[in-house]
Amino acid sequence: MQALRGIDLEIPAGSFTAVMGPSGSGKTTLLHCAAGLQQPTGGSVVLAGKELVFADEPTGALDLRSAREVLALLRGLADAGQTIGMVTHDPSAAAYSDQVLFLADGSIVDRLPKPNAGAVAARMASLVERVESAAGAGADAAGEPAAAFTWRARLAQGE
Ligand SMILES: Nc1ncnc2c1ncn2[C@@H]1O[C@H](COP(=O)(O)OP(=O)(O)OP(=O)(O)O)[C@@H](O)[C@H]1O
Ligand SMILES: [Mg+2]
Repeated sequence: MQALRGIDLEIPAGSFTAVMGPSGSGKTTLLHCAAGLQQPTGGSVVLAGKELVFADEPTGALDLRSAREVLALLRGLADAGQTIGMVTHDPSAAAYSDQVLFLADGSIVDRLPKPNAGAVAARMASLVERVESAAGAGADAAGEPAAAFTWRARLAQGE
């Protein structure tokens, strides 16, 4: 199978980039390729000699207060010139970044600069709906794609 499909991406030095997308969309694979932990089958990854910080769902299992501490730490590192790449499922965590990349099925399908939690959640919900309808997947009994409901539930928990 192909976990990533033709991703052409340049991350500005000293920026904080969040990566979001449905489960299995390739977020961890992208992070691993960028970090040199995984070798892409084609193409190349060029690191500009900068120190990079990669975090894969760093707040996934944390309470709100600890999550905020971690996110503030990452934000502070970026403000001090470190380049940060963070995978998250949480729109309010993504809001700490400078830009959010949205992955679906191994491709970058959307990008949101200067994100806030509401805008991120809305992009995610529409992305999930597009993915679901493209896959021809059935909606649930309420007429909503099941995955979009998960995102709204996560946002409600995070706020
Ligand atoms: N070692 C592997 N061997 C085979 N397939 C893999 C391997 N690692 C990942 N995949 C597949 O590649 C795709 C992308 O996986 P990846 O772990 O990057 O997704 P993800 O976006 O990080 O998902 P999640 O949100 O669940 O962490 C998935 O379909 C996954 O099943
Ligand atoms: Mg992952």
